[in-house]
Amino acid sequence: MRIERARGTRDFLPKEMRKRRIMEERMRSVAERWGYEEIRTPTFERSELFTLKSGEGIEMYEFRDKGGRHLALRPELTAPVIRMYINELKMTPKPTKWYYFGNCFRYEEPQKARYREFWQFGTEIIGSDSPEAQAELIALAFNILKSLGVKAELHVGHVGLIRERLRIANVDGVQINTVMRLIDKGERQAVIELMDDMGVKGERLDDLLFLLDLKGKDALKEARDRNIIASDSDALKELELLLELLDYYGVDYTLNLGIARGLDYYTGMVFEIYEAGGMLGAQNQICGGGSYRLAALFGGDDIPLTGFAFGFDRLAEIFSVDDKDLERRGVVVVPIREKNADLDVLKEAIEIASMLREFVPTHIDLMNRSLSAQLKYANARHDSFAVLVGKNELGEGKLTLRNLDTGEQEKISVEDCVARLKAYFDLN
Ligand code: HAM
Repeated sequence: MRIERARGTRDFLPKEMRKRRIMEERMRSVAERWGYEEIRTPTFERSELFTLKSGEGIEMYEFRDKGGRHLALRPELTAPVIRMYINELKMTPKPTKWYYFGNCFRYEEPQKARYREFWQFGTEIIGSDSPEAQAELIALAFNILKSLGVKAELHVGHVGLIRERLRIANVDGVQINTVMRLIDKGERQAVIELMDDMGVKGERLDDLLFLLDLKGKDALKEARDRNIIASDSDALKELELLLELLDYYGVDYTLNLGIARGLDYYTGMVFEIYEAGGMLGAQNQICGGGSYRLAALFGGDDIPLTGFAFGFDRLAEIFSVDDKDLERRGVVVVPIREKNADLDVLKEAIEIASMLREFVPTHIDLMNRSLSAQLKYANARHDSFAVLVGKNELGEGKLTLRNLDTGEQEKISVEDCVARLKAYFDLN
């Protein structure tokens, strides 16, 4: 019986895994150099961790375990990270700066660059949502993108301004989240209809729509001119300082006051990064984040938080790497022996393979095959060298080193062979 993969999931073959490892290592390396430390949380959690705030707008994979506990596969990592912080480490010096890399699960309609199992690489600053913290995080995100050679566009907004507009229009707390999610999905008509149902009309509705459309350099000025943001508003001052700091970091941005984000926990500045080359189609958002509050909800002090997460799979789709870097060429040690005999030859081959495995991927025959079959296998795998270990040469303490690219071969001692290969693979 042929069994298919579950819908929305993927298999990764060795070449793809090598590419993903290269990406992961570069991303980790940047995060570490910016002073962030790696953490990991469980793949599944108590459902309420997400239903309290972060999973509301997301269809989750939920189930009951045999003890009747209501659990969910994590749809994102921010809520688990804050839960962990409150449970384990409340006393760490602030700000605490963490990063993570892990799989997430969302029951979404699969399409290009949208999966039911996908990976996020993210960071959280625990203890600050200052413009300094926000600017550092955005600059970090851009440094990570630079390390991957990915060109992208940054949009910065502020959900506090939209929420305030909705409060002024007397939209209640629960409804605000519903409206925010519609805004996030770009469903403008549905926003208008819902507001209409709630009796929000005329100037109040116009002001909201005006705010959502504000984009570009003059957005803050236009908002001020129309009295949508008071000149002494904290949000405004915060945004202005953030933009100035982004200039210092050399990060380009577009101010976009219509960004709402799909998760309910954001309270202040929010940002999204889109792939600029048109390779991802509709799902071109490669990173999202902002300032939020979650700690009090999980039983901690109401500390300020700021974070972001990259969609790792989307980055993998646009990341390009030289095919040469994805090749993993190695050595095959070939014991030449009669089938099921000459164990001394096999023993010597294993010893040589062990020495080579200190520095290069090394294969040894596992199928009791003939010399020609072993060489065919080495060629098919694109190995660089074959080390032929034969009974006669063994007596002389020698073996044959064959370059599989050129076909050249020579009889040399075991020590010379190991030294020669070490020098070659240190260079290549
Ligand atoms: P998010 O925007 O829901 O934010 O997800 C972050 C990124 O994950 C998205 O920008 C997108 O690239 C990727 N992503 C989301 N859903 C899928 C999917 N179905 N398939 C492939 N990629 C996907 C968060 O999750 C927040 N926790 C980010 C954050 C951290 N905010 C503060 N700290």
